[in-house]
Amino acid sequence: MPVHTLPSTFLALLAIWNILVPSLSHPQPNPCRMIQRMALCNNARLPCVPVGLPYNTDELQLNHNHIQTLLNNSLLHYSSLFTLSLAGNHLEKIEANAFGDSHPLQSLYLAENNLHVGYQDTSHALLQLPQLQVLDLSKNKLEDDMVFHLLQNLTSLQYLNLSGNLMQRLDESSFEGLPQLRELDLHGNMLFEIVRAFSGNPKLQRLNLAFNNLPCLVDFHMTQLVVLNASHNFIEWFVARQELNETFHLETLDLTDNKLLFFPFLPSQSRLRNLYLSHNSVRFYGGQVDDATGENWTTSVQFYNLNGNVSNVTAQLWDESLHGDVSSVEILDLRGNQVEYFPQGFISQMPSLSRLQMYTNCLKTLNLTSEGFSGSLYELDVSNNRLSEVIAEKGALAALGNLTYLNMSLNALGWLPSGLFSSVESLMSVDLSYNSMGICTSETRDVHEDSSSDCVVWRNIASLRQLYLRGCGIKWVPPSAFAGMRLTHLELSDNPGLRVETGSLQALSGTLQHLGLGKTDMRAVDFSAFHRLSYLNISRNSLTHLPTSLLNLDLQMLDASENNLSTISPGQAASLAPTLRRVFLARNPFDCCQMEWYRTFETTKTVNMVDHTEILCLDEAKRTYRAGVLPIFCGDLSRESVFWYLLLILSGFLLFVCILTICLLTFRPLLLQKTVKKKSVKPTSY
Ligand SMILES: *[C@@H]1O[C@H](CO)[C@@H](O)[C@H](O)[C@H]1NC(C)=O
Ligand SMILES: *[C@@H]1O[C@H](CO)[C@@H](O)[C@H](O)[C@H]1NC(C)=O
Ligand SMILES: *[C@@H]1O[C@H](CO)[C@@H](O)[C@H](O)[C@H]1NC(C)=O
Ligand SMILES: *[C@@H]1O[C@H](CO)[C@@H](O)[C@H](O)[C@H]1NC(C)=O
Ligand SMILES: *[C@@H]1O[C@H](CO)[C@@H](O)[C@H](O)[C@H]1NC(C)=O
Ligand SMILES: *[C@@H]1O[C@H](CO)[C@@H](O)[C@H](O)[C@H]1NC(C)=O
Ligand SMILES: *[C@@H]1O[C@H](CO)[C@@H](O)[C@H](O)[C@H]1NC(C)=O
Ligand SMILES: *[C@@H]1O[C@H](CO)[C@@H](O)[C@H](O)[C@H]1NC(C)=O
Ligand SMILES: *[C@@H]1O[C@H](CO)[C@@H](O)[C@H](O)[C@H]1NC(C)=O
Ligand SMILES: *[C@@H]1O[C@H](CO)[C@@H](O)[C@H](O)[C@H]1NC(C)=O
Ligand SMILES: *[C@@H]1O[C@H](CO)[C@@H](O)[C@H](O)[C@H]1NC(C)=O
Ligand SMILES: *[C@@H]1O[C@H](CO)[C@@H](O)[C@H](O)[C@H]1NC(C)=O
Repeated sequence: MPVHTLPSTFLALLAIWNILVPSLSHPQPNPCRMIQRMALCNNARLPCVPVGLPYNTDELQLNHNHIQTLLNNSLLHYSSLFTLSLAGNHLEKIEANAFGDSHPLQSLYLAENNLHVGYQDTSHALLQLPQLQVLDLSKNKLEDDMVFHLLQNLTSLQYLNLSGNLMQRLDESSFEGLPQLRELDLHGNMLFEIVRAFSGNPKLQRLNLAFNNLPCLVDFHMTQLVVLNASHNFIEWFVARQELNETFHLETLDLTDNKLLFFPFLPSQSRLRNLYLSHNSVRFYGGQVDDATGENWTTSVQFYNLNGNVSNVTAQLWDESLHGDVSSVEILDLRGNQVEYFPQGFISQMPSLSRLQMYTNCLKTLNLTSEGFSGSLYELDVSNNRLSEVIAEKGALAALGNLTYLNMSLNALGWLPSGLFSSVESLMSVDLSYNSMGICTSETRDVHEDSSSDCVVWRNIASLRQLYLRGCGIKWVPPSAFAGMRLTHLELSDNPGLRVETGSLQALSGTLQHLGLGKTDMRAVDFSAFHRLSYLNISRNSLTHLPTSLLNLDLQMLDASENNLSTISPGQAASLAPTLRRVFLARNPFDCCQMEWYRTFETTKTVNMVDHTEILCLDEAKRTYRAGVLPIFCGDLSRESVFWYLLLILSGFLLFVCILTICLLTFRPLLLQKTVKKKSVKPTSY
């Protein structure tokens, strides 16, 4: 409607005029792009805040320009500005009067600058921003006292980012005037001590202390905190204040990559849901204390701080029932620790546990009955431990109604309770790789006294989709091994000498997408019915040609490396190329004269021959060439011999030319000398 469009066009014209006026004297393209009331002036080499943007601009982005000083009054004009970004500008200071008096700015992003140079002026400027809620000062080389100055009286601040600075120590003065603070990022500083900081921040919910030099977190009593990230420090002790009769709001505690020796001493009442403890040295010591009865064990630890103040934090080090409140824990990540066993009742204290990640620990046995895992358990990863025994009664297994992912790979299992997998009704993914477990038919061949078996009956486990049985020493896949299953992934690689009965894999032909048969000595498998197959690994099998049944599949990944292939027929290459994304073919004795397939794959842009630099071929004399650079001459034998004759004649001719040249060179100097002498005997005319 004209009534409405007229004023807005007029405003737009005004805005353009404003931008044009300064550029009339210095003709240059307008560095800013307006999106509604937001001005984007990033990466424009600007030395100062552009003048002439619309008055009502509410967001101004000036990231990655050359603004070294934010001059007095430079933002006075933009009195509606709520958000200002000046990241990556080599900004050294903001002059005290840059914003004028009492500017309504709410968010100020100043990451990656040099505010350590002019922090005093800058701190005066910040005092003019009574409504500032968001302040990003990350990566500004700021030290403790500079931060103290900058944060004076920022009473509205809710979000503060100080990551990537040079802070070393926090105490009660560090953040005292910030009563509204909710989120504080201090990751990537050099903090080694925190004493009574945060007492003035009753609303602080998210605190990131990752990548600092903290040696411990003791007497932790920040009940208001929801997320505490103290990963990547040198923390040996985490001890929450035990005698507090108050529920901690803590939901996420990240202590990844520290030096913890003990399971953290958690608050006695909390809502902790996510506990990340991977890459520490956590273990439980109950066994040792029992062994060493009679010895005097210390039960308390003393912590000194820089001022020489001692805090006696008494932790019942050896009492395994006192880890604090874990009743809400859903994710427990203990990967890369030294846990040998779970203390009595430890797991059953976590009725909501849904993911337990124990990859790379020292577990020796796992008694699923006595641990009392709850029905909410979804993922159990006990891979790369020392498990030789898993114990479970039918009843305990049936209780694991939500268990979906079970990884027991890289252990020393030789026996498993029969019915372990068939009793868990939601199981979708099982990894038993690198244990020694066979596949049995329904009649158990070899039954241990308490009904364990050295092989597993997989047939009719209808929920299972992914089954990984790499390197299990499997010798035989019985005809009906996978009957009644709907697997999409089956990994049988690294089982040398595997005898796959016909029909066993065929039961999966309608569902299988991923099949691993690498290093199994497989021979003839008919793949023609596997219409969904997109990933096939048949490497290291001494195959002399690719199975013809691959022709009609839509394979995306094929690993046929380390076989005895001498070529891939042009028809096969042409039918594979359209769908193939990744193919591995190195370490096959290809024939250099039958490399048409290579050019087919090479010219199809979507095919990635992952190991193409290692694909070699042999010529008739068994010399090897890289398939990508083929200088040689190929053809039938008669043309080949013509080639050799030509070569012989050519080299004979070359020899003749060489001899001729040498002769000429030895006789010619004599002739040369004579002529030179004749000319130079002329007397000079001095
Ligand atoms: C900027 O303003 C402040 C306060 O009004 C004043 O003290 C300072 O000298 C001014 N800076 C310059 C470079 O004019
Ligand atoms: C901060 O506020 C307090 C009380 O309002 C005042 O006494 C003090 O001078 C202020 N500090 C600065 C640096 O303005
Ligand atoms: C703080 O700043 C750093 C670097 O500028 C950034 O990577 C990080 O995500 C920021 N933190 C938060 C909580 O936004
Ligand atoms: C903790 O901080 C690190 C580094 O900033 C980050 O990689 C990690 O994801 C954070 N942890 C959580 C639980 O957010
Ligand atoms: C903790 O608080 C509860 C109720 O809030 C009270 O019954 C209990 O006695 C308190 N315990 C201690 C040690 O103060
Ligand atoms: C334990 O400590 C007490 C007192 O220090 C000492 O008398 C006793 O012999 C110690 N016991 C052992 C088993 O070392
Ligand atoms: C040391 O502790 C005492 C009492 O526990 C306290 O009064 C004093 O302020 C502390 N000193 C420092 C520097 O924190
Ligand atoms: C800490 O404990 C030790 C030994 O129990 C004791 O001698 C010392 O006085 C305690 N220190 C404080 C500050 O309570
Ligand atoms: C496994 O735990 C159950 C229940 O606590 C117990 O009866 C059984 O003896 C345990 N099995 C082994 C081998 O420890
Ligand atoms: C499985 O999980 C769902 C929701 O995640 C829950 O409602 C259900 O009770 C759980 N089953 C068992 C047996 O705990
Ligand atoms: C099982 O764990 C091993 C070792 O951590 C890992 O390599 C493998 O990918 C996992 N299996 C599955 C199916 O995720
Ligand atoms: C195929 O299987 C072999 C033998 O187990 C293995 O070495 C290779 O990494 C596998 N290929 C791919 C692409 O995973």
